Amino acid sequence: MLSISVKEFLSWKKKQLSKGGEHQSFAVLLDCIGGISNSDLNLITLNSERNLYLKKNLEFLESVWDNHLIESCPIQYLCGITFWRDLKLKVTNKVLIPRPETELIVDIVFNIFREKSEKLIFAELGTGSGAISIALALAYPLSEGVATDIDQDALEIATKNYINSSKQSNLKFCCGNWWSPLESFQGKLDLAISNPPYIPRDTYEKLPKEVKNFEPKVALLGGEDGLKHIREIIRKAPLFLKEKGWLIIENHYDQGEKVKQLLFKNKFTSIEIVKDFSGIGRFTIGRYK
Ligand SMILES: C[S@@+](CC[C@H](N)C(=O)[O-])C[C@H]1O[C@@H](n2cnc3c(N)ncnc32)[C@H](O)[C@@H]1O
Repeated sequence: MLSISVKEFLSWKKKQLSKGGEHQSFAVLLDCIGGISNSDLNLITLNSERNLYLKKNLEFLESVWDNHLIESCPIQYLCGITFWRDLKLKVTNKVLIPRPETELIVDIVFNIFREKSEKLIFAELGTGSGAISIALALAYPLSEGVATDIDQDALEIATKNYINSSKQSNLKFCCGNWWSPLESFQGKLDLAISNPPYIPRDTYEKLPKEVKNFEPKVALLGGEDGLKHIREIIRKAPLFLKEKGWLIIENHYDQGEKVKQLLFKNKFTSIEIVKDFSGIGRFTIGRYK
């Protein structure tokens, strides 16, 4: 641990933030590499005469911050860590950085299945870092979950995240194309969730460089109209869901009505578009008959 005066640290912090970047990203850097959490910082800055302790020196932290600003590489990839709900998750450029708006998927599930003692059988298609499945497996300890992804590297990260977050063993990871790793779950799922790649091709081409140059294309691109994967997931869902089982899909800001129609065509009921905190119809949910 390196000792530094609070005064020196605060003036360094001000200088770094004056170069640009978001305060939240800077907080991730300080927490994950510097070893100083936001709450540590609030306590320390109340007494500027004291010293604080850092895991890495200021030059090193500054070099990571400069790299983030110059290359536009997301700070989460540079630090190898992201925070999502109450989880601290390992991330590399093999997985999408789980987004704050996706946190709501877990609350949608909490609204549908109110008893945490439910013995749910659930599947997540396209788990990436494992965020959604891990949150659900922890919240419903008697449940049995399967998290799938087409990318074996992503699944290895998700598995590590599960081992680091939980002492339970109610979540499995399987590699394969959408429903194909779930053959043995036909007619058994109470719940299936997916935040699939849903960005239309022309939008993908124009994504900001911090996304397009660093996050996996396989996690973002949803074919020409963005709905390629959503169509496939919805079409096959009836084979895997129990009667009255739920499907929850995250979609692009303007796809809610189209996803609703797809669910309707595939004989889903109780179809609803759920808005995120920005008022965008971000999730479409339905029940199989
Ligand atoms: C938008 S990311 C979502 C990741 C994570 N669930 C989240 O919400 O942060 C989509 C995920 O679907 C996976 N994926 C893409 N195509 C797939 C396919 N054909 N079958 C299964 N998974 C796929 C990607 O590898 C990626 O991890």
